[in-house]
Amino acid sequence: MIARPPLFRDALRSALLTWYDRQARDLAWRVGPADRRGGVRSDPYRVWLSEVMLQQTTVPHATPYFLSFTQRWPTVLELAAVEDGDLMAAWAGLGYYARARNLLACARAVADQHGGVFPDTEEGLRALPGVGAYTAAAVAAIAFDREANVVDGNVERVIARLFAVETPVPDAKPELKALAAGLVTAERPGDWAQALMDMGATVCRPRSPLCDICPISEWCEGLKTGAPETYPRKTKKADRPRRYGVAWLLTRGEEVALIRRPPKGLLGGMLGLPTSDWRSAPWSDEEAVAAAPINADWQDRGAIEHVFTHFSLTLRVFAAEGEGEFVWTPREGLGALPSVFLKAALAGERLL
Ligand code: ADE
Repeated sequence: MIARPPLFRDALRSALLTWYDRQARDLAWRVGPADRRGGVRSDPYRVWLSEVMLQQTTVPHATPYFLSFTQRWPTVLELAAVEDGDLMAAWAGLGYYARARNLLACARAVADQHGGVFPDTEEGLRALPGVGAYTAAAVAAIAFDREANVVDGNVERVIARLFAVETPVPDAKPELKALAAGLVTAERPGDWAQALMDMGATVCRPRSPLCDICPISEWCEGLKTGAPETYPRKTKKADRPRRYGVAWLLTRGEEVALIRRPPKGLLGGMLGLPTSDWRSAPWSDEEAVAAAPINADWQDRGAIEHVFTHFSLTLRVFAAEGEGEFVWTPREGLGALPSVFLKAALAGERLL
């Protein structure tokens, strides 16, 4: 790692912050640089909520969720008072439901232990349930203008290119974090964090960086190598393992049979279609019908694919009319299901 003279740091910071003053994205949760300068403060609740959502998905996908959450629950006290099931339903489609459970645990801790006021330091935030190093740093910087080093995947990519870091990720993470820390100062920490994120998302893009319009290209070691897009270096990682399962779409007139999943584990506590185990070997027709929750005239409706963080799933879908002990739900209610079940239900109805 090369120690950089402060001159380099200050010129680079100034170039990126000037770019941000002109080009900052207009985001639902953001107080833009002009308003910030005018003294407008970000609401820590909105910053925290947006950061939790954005760890899960992209800005375009998170935005409607953010808007509907903040409309239904404008403050952390209102969010803290929501029933678990209502929150899970509102979160459906964002994936990774452990985050929704943590979200609620954190809102309740802020309500019960902090009188509804978010702690205003990185350490104080870090002590909240479900708040990791990244979220604590992001909220401290963006909501409270604390001098915190905010490093997400976008920022890692920018830093890896800027310094042409040859160590592959994930091993390079501590090095990238230290290099990023060297660029943080007490001047506009919240804008700095967001400027780096915006640059990573819109200019220093993963596959095709727009170096021609990059405000900090003159300092970029990656650009000098002629192949900036090849950073961050990656270790070859094995493909996601594939698992196989069967989902059964059982209908009774306009209603669909759902089951409540066990509280722990993948999609824990969510409603879903009944499914088999998700195992490493495909399911034959005979096995699929034998494992079905009831005996019925099961019709093969093909298969859907779904990618989870740690594996890919091929889910065969069978459909039938029938009766039984289930959570019978009107068809219109299926939109609130986790996407894997929604896809399976649509395949079952021959709508895919
Ligand atoms: N990605 C994660 N957090 C973000 C933020 N605050 N602004 C823009 N993109 C982000």
